[in-house]
Formats: sequence, structure tokens, C-alpha cells
Amino acid sequence: MRKAALLTSFGVWGLAIVLSAQVPDVSPIWTVDPVDRSSVDYTHIPLWAYGVSETPHFDDEQAVQTHPDAPPSRSAWSSMSRADFARERRLEGSSLTVTWSDLRDERGGAQAVNWFPDHHPSPMPPIVTQGPAALGNRSRACGGCHLADGSGRPENASPAGLSATYILRQLADFKNGLRHSVEPAKANSNTMVMLAKAMTEEEMQEAADYFSAVPWRPHVTVIETDLVPTTEMQGELFIPTAKELTEPIGNRIIEVPTDVEASQILRSSGGTWIAYVPVGAVARGQDLVTTGGASIVNGEIVLGRATACTTCHGLDLLGLAPDVPPLAGRSPGYLAREIFDIQQGTRAGSYELLPLMKMAVERLTAEDIIDITAYLGSLPVDGVAGPDRTLGTR
Ligand code: HEC
Ligand code: HEC
Repeated sequence: MRKAALLTSFGVWGLAIVLSAQVPDVSPIWTVDPVDRSSVDYTHIPLWAYGVSETPHFDDEQAVQTHPDAPPSRSAWSSMSRADFARERRLEGSSLTVTWSDLRDERGGAQAVNWFPDHHPSPMPPIVTQGPAALGNRSRACGGCHLADGSGRPENASPAGLSATYILRQLADFKNGLRHSVEPAKANSNTMVMLAKAMTEEEMQEAADYFSAVPWRPHVTVIETDLVPTTEMQGELFIPTAKELTEPIGNRIIEVPTDVEASQILRSSGGTWIAYVPVGAVARGQDLVTTGGASIVNGEIVLGRATACTTCHGLDLLGLAPDVPPLAGRSPGYLAREIFDIQQGTRAGSYELLPLMKMAVERLTAEDIIDITAYLGSLPVDGVAGPDRTLGTR
């Protein structure tokens, strides 16, 4: 199929054959195989975590970024004045100076901007700065979405400090069609699948070695509140449109960048985030996470809706190397999506403990997921917890 596509686009037999010989056989590359989501029950979906206001439908169209049908235009740049394009931009605390083309590629994809070279292994390997080589100029840099230090953003994930074994398994699961979002239109998750399908084993190893070697940087502050700032959605992310807290929070967590310019425009890898959570969520979440919501009635233990997460994720919730990932201090939005994806089975995974993890979260409601992720996000990560742990701080 790939060869045929090349033949059509170039129409020159010799050139096409030479090119097809150079491209590793990693099809399908540009699209993601259709995923059967018909068994998903969307009733309790935490919509806020997916950055949508309407409940998705299982057979909505699957979106993917850098789609082959999208013309290779500079549309993402076209609205910008020449002066703005060439303007030199800086970030407090960094000696780097960038212009717009250092921040975004021609298709609007984020670049891996090296604001703080001391915060991660240097130099960044090509997979982190360019993405899988097989995708050529349509590739996407791992460090673009996940940032140079892998601290990530609420709408994607934070691979920093995860064990290499765990990272390699996730990449294999994406590649083998075992890990998807319940939301068909979540283009960045589908793009992640597409990238994993395009990666060679060496590239996977390189990426896993890099991200597992970056120390975890705490970057989320959880604040309980009745009111939040008004926000607008920009690519599945809440962006505040005012400073004052005037809007009722409702059944949501609103996670916003502390400095919009630094995180949204400059793709700072040193940025921090505020997660506004409903009042009382952290204490309710602590109960569910540490006991599963168990209680004692008439001297008898009555099990709760969940299995205590600490059983597998460690008493300090920093995970157990090499297989069980940390939960403490991570983005509530990311954690909430994974809990729901695992509950609904679109993230099924290859690891033998995952079915037990699914059972642990099977009966959680959308409110429970808010409480649990508010608590997990609020936990401090202030040091390496044991000799076999992978998380550290700087
Ligand atoms: C277009 C943005 C984007 C790019 C580029 C990208 N990712 Fe991702 N990545 C995501 C999203 C979104 C998720 C969360 C997927 C989900 O579960 O919905 C993710 C998840 C992950 C995870 C799982 C983390 C966890 O805690 O389980 C790993 C590992 C990962 N990415 C590695 C990579 C690597 C390596 C690259 C470069 C080849 C890369 N990513 C490039 C968006 C991206
Ligand atoms: C039986 C053990 C077990 C229990 C109990 C358990 N988990 Fe997990 N959990 C796992 C394993 C193992 C994984 C990694 C799965 C994989 O490799 O794909 C995981 C993954 C996760 C992830 C995805 C993390 C990431 O980086 O993508 C989240 C979120 C999570 N668990 C939350 C919870 C919560 C919340 C609870 C308690 C309500 C819980 N888990 C209880 C074993 C467990």
C-alpha cells in the first residue's frame, strides 16, 4: 500500500522504487486502524479530562494529527506577521533565544524546545527532537508534545521518570492496538498510536532510555475551590480567559497552565500547572485510594467501590519498579482518562496485572474519578522512595 501511494505521488518509477526501499516497513503509518469502541459505556465519562463538553459516540470519526490528506501548507503560520514570525523570544531562567520556527513545525506541530538543557540528558536523541524517522517530514517529535523533560501536559502524558520497561511496554501496546482512548476524536492519542507503529525497536529503546533517565519534576498544584476562572478550550486544554475565580466548578477538575504564554506559546519544559478541584475532593479521594472506600459496619469490614490503589502502586503511590507506574503528583486530567480508558477496556494492555487493575476501578463513578485524581495530584513527590524506585526529583 505504501509503495502504491509513493508511485502515485511521484509517478516516476525509478525514484519511487528507490524511496520505497529506504522507508522501513511500518505500515499503516498515516492512519490508525479502526478501533471497536462499541462496548464503551460513556455514562460516567469524566468529560473535563478529555477536554470535551459533549459525550463522544463510539463510532465518531477517528481523528489523527498530520493526516496525509491535509495539504502540506504553512497554514499554521499564515496568520502571523513577518515581524512576529521573526521575533526573538525568551523564557525567564533560560539562556535560549528562539523564533517561531523553533517552536512549531510547518504543520503546526510543537517542536522539542531545549529551554533547560541541565534538566535532562543532553543532547536529546533524534527520536526526541524529530520523532520516528520513517515518517519523514510528517513526523512529530516526542519532546514536542511531552516537552523536552518529559514532564508532559494534561492533554497528553508525562513519561519522565517512568521505568524503561514500563515505557517500552506502553509503546508496544500502542503499536499492537492494545491501548486507545475511549474518545475516537482525541487526535493526539491516535497520533501517539501512529507514532508507535512507525517506530523501530532501536528508536523505542532510545526514547525509553531518555525519558526514564529524566528526574521527575513536580509541576502540579492542586487547589480546592468552589469557583474557577472562566476558560476556553485550546486543543483539549483549559486556558483561563480571566484572572478572577467567578465560575462554579461543578463536577469538574479544571487544570490550567500557571503561565499561559510560557506553556502554550513557548512550550516551556519548566512550566507549572494549577488543578482546581471541588471542595472536599482530596479527602474523599484519599479514602478511596488508601482503603478502596472500605468501612466498618457493626464490627464487620464492608468493602468499598475500589481496591486500594496502594496495594499495587505502593504505599507512597510512587509505583513499584519496573512495572507498576507512579501516580503521585501526576496530572489529574491524564490520570482520570487512563482510569476511565482502563475501566472501559480500550486500554487493555499486555501486562498480566492490568485485568486486576481494571477490576480495581470497574465500579468507580465520574465523581470518584475526580476525587481520586484530585488526591493523587495533590501528593508531594519529594525524593526517591527506595532503592528500586525510578522516581527522583531535582
Ligand atoms: C501528538 C502528541 C504526541 C507526540 C508527538 C508523542 N506523544 Fe506520547 N502520548 C501522547 C498522548 C496524547 C498520550 C496519552 C495517550 C492516551 O492514553 O490517551 C501519550 C502517551 C505516551 C506514553 C505513555 C505514558 C504512560 O504514563 O503510560 C509514552 C511512554 C509516550 N507517550 C511516549 C512517546 C514517545 C517515545 C514519543 C515520540 C516517538 C511520543 N510519545 C510522542 C501524545 C504524543
Ligand atoms: C492489582 C494491582 C493494581 C491495583 C489494585 C491498582 N492498579 Fe493501577 N495499575 C496497575 C498496573 C500493573 C498498571 C500498569 C498497566 C500497564 O502496564 O499497562 C496500572 C496503571 C494505572 C494507571 C495508568 C498510569 C499511566 O502512567 O498511564 C492509573 C492512572 C492507575 N493505574 C490508577 C489506579 C487507581 C486510581 C487505583 C485504585 C483505585 C489503581 N490503579 C489500582 C495495577 C494496579
